[in-house]
Amino acid sequence: MNKFVFLTDTHYWTDAPKDYGAPKMLTKGREIHDAIPPAVNALDPDFVVHGGDFLCGGSSFDLPTDIFEQSIRDVRKTFDRLSSPFYPIPGNHDCDAQTWKFDAFNAAFDVPDLLSVDEVASDLRIVRANVFLGDTKEYGSGEWTDDHDAKLREIDGQLTAAGLPALFFLHTWILPDALPEEGAEGRGCVSGSRQLLDTISQCPSIVAVFTGHRHVNRITAYRDFLIVDTACLIGYPFGFREVTLSDDGWFSTIFHRLEVPDTMAAYRERDDAGEDAEWEGQPHDCDSEVLIPRLREIRG
Ligand SMILES: [Fe+2]
Ligand SMILES: [Fe+2]
Repeated sequence: MNKFVFLTDTHYWTDAPKDYGAPKMLTKGREIHDAIPPAVNALDPDFVVHGGDFLCGGSSFDLPTDIFEQSIRDVRKTFDRLSSPFYPIPGNHDCDAQTWKFDAFNAAFDVPDLLSVDEVASDLRIVRANVFLGDTKEYGSGEWTDDHDAKLREIDGQLTAAGLPALFFLHTWILPDALPEEGAEGRGCVSGSRQLLDTISQCPSIVAVFTGHRHVNRITAYRDFLIVDTACLIGYPFGFREVTLSDDGWFSTIFHRLEVPDTMAAYRERDDAGEDAEWEGQPHDCDSEVLIPRLREIRG
């Protein structure tokens, strides 16, 4: 059995001047970040993965470089308080808003170059993707390239030969929630998402895909694997996933909400808060138990 935590979209800005669009509560970043390590450590997970957007660089926020760099130092301190091995991937808001460069973020966090494989347990691997290697100003949802594709197929060949399952992590979505216009990607989907979905369909070692970015919970059984999208921590519903994979192929997840009463009260005052289900999804998008055919096949 494996037990881990997936959290995403923590969007920290040291002393943020305003909250920005719902569900984000950027002025409450300190209360939220103080609550994350104890809540995660209490679960004693085998490992923790962050789905990206640690920060408020890139588009939308226009953060000055010196405050961006201070925010990185503050965020690093938060995640250093986790007791379990920690695996980050970059999001579109982890680059400097002035230069669109990831250098400062990459110097603070061990992010994959293209794709990386980590041995998180003797019977499980994770594959982490960096889809922000090109022009993030132009491709705000990142790019899945032929180089990524070839590398993933090579990794899958090795894992399949070794009889090992893997979880795949990237920041942006791969499955649209509405029919995209001709020639366009779905909202929040990585450029090349159709190719990626096809490739994963042909890579039997990949038993589940995890994303963030849209700040929405959604769990989809797609063919014989799962696609697990997760809401943000910087805003409603202020939560993260605990995930368990059983020895006979079951996936279970519990969505844990942070205890942040001041932040929650302030969120409820917002005019643009929206319906809760817009962000938290339906009950089975929060807590769920699903058999993954691929995992059952590998683990018997
Ligand atoms: Fe985000
Ligand atoms: Fe994002």
